[in-house]
Amino acid sequence: MTADVRPADPVAAVTHPDPYPYYADLTAARALHRDEALGLWVACGAATVTEVLTSPACLVRPPSEPVPRALVGSPAGSIFGRLVRMNEGAKHSALKPAVSAATAGIEKHVGEQARRWAEHLFEELKPADDPARVNEFAFSLSGYVLASLLGVASDMLARTAAMVGDFARSIAPAAASEQLARGSAAAGELLDTFRALLDVRAAGRRATLFGELEREVARTGGADREDVVANGIGFLSQAYEATAGLIGNTLVILGRQKDGRAASRVDSGQLDAIVREVVRYDPPVHNTRRFLAHDAVVAGRAMKEGDAVLVVLAAANRDPLANPEPSRFDPFRPSRQAFTFGCGPHGCPGETVATAIATAGVRQLLAGGVKPERFAEPVRYRPSANTRVPVF
Ligand code: HEM
Repeated sequence: MTADVRPADPVAAVTHPDPYPYYADLTAARALHRDEALGLWVACGAATVTEVLTSPACLVRPPSEPVPRALVGSPAGSIFGRLVRMNEGAKHSALKPAVSAATAGIEKHVGEQARRWAEHLFEELKPADDPARVNEFAFSLSGYVLASLLGVASDMLARTAAMVGDFARSIAPAAASEQLARGSAAAGELLDTFRALLDVRAAGRRATLFGELEREVARTGGADREDVVANGIGFLSQAYEATAGLIGNTLVILGRQKDGRAASRVDSGQLDAIVREVVRYDPPVHNTRRFLAHDAVVAGRAMKEGDAVLVVLAAANRDPLANPEPSRFDPFRPSRQAFTFGCGPHGCPGETVATAIATAGVRQLLAGGVKPERFAEPVRYRPSANTRVPVF
């Protein structure tokens, strides 16, 4: 598809070459509207997105299907059903503070680990020689860094990162039967790995992100050992595709700076600011969904129990009421408001961790001779209803 053909709808927009003028029109004209063809409410403006994400009537899963039918009874389903991301109420309140505290606890270590594993992966994959290996680098990096911080042994990182990929693809809504089968096998292996890690921890060996999570869960109460295991795996699966997209989208933006500024900006240490603006400007996650627990008025519209809302985070990022001159790419934008990591009770605790990993990854790629100009045009994206991840 070319940039001058408008996206058919806000789901197709996710992988459109330039969906932002379309999002701007939707936000200006219909910040919250019903799309009958999609069977969804669509929330676009910063205020409506915030109202939906903070409404107690809006749930992260359809009430009739807490675990997707295709996953019920499988190891992947047993992880899914325990994830903080997929729960509400008592389970969410028990897990969220522990998950957030454990994530905050690793923020000071993540930069060093990200540099270390970016260097290691670069040497192993040699992505400067072949663009396809840039994809592999981008998808593997968060798994290596987070699995290492969770306490997985160095010689098991490659295997763990591969299993996380299979698991993450299997819990995506449109997973094919072959992906479901691979995901189920991977989930079984990840469960074994992380249950064993918990036993090692119990024997008092090492302080890790996983140990931190276990301690926090024990302190806050309301969750069990299997919740710790599932949410340890959850760190990896939550980070997997979005962090790869952030690395890829940053390369695309750098490549479009035709005057060769990319390298000089990196040398002068501006990369972190660039990545943070990419988070707003061309984000790796474009939308999330909510489901009505009961009939309710949300952002001024009467919705029915079971109704689904597509919450277009990427459109809210470009709302001029949140970010003046939203189409201007400005790494030093004051008071930036980005919705890419969500907001409200289910807001992402991993923003600092994700941007540190992406920054280290892009810095390593550029330092190793990868030329972002190669990736600027044309850009293809992996088929997805919510993530924008370029394929090189
Ligand atoms: C660029 C990378 C990332 C993006 C764009 C991203 C985005 C998001 C978004 C939008 C949500 C909220 C979904 C919703 O409300 O429906 C979320 C939730 C979550 N994210 Fe991230 N994330 C990223 C990386 C990470 C990383 C690295 C971690 C962990 C270290 C993480 C852990 C989580 C967790 C645990 C939740 C669930 C929170 C809850 O439901 O209360 N994410 N993420």
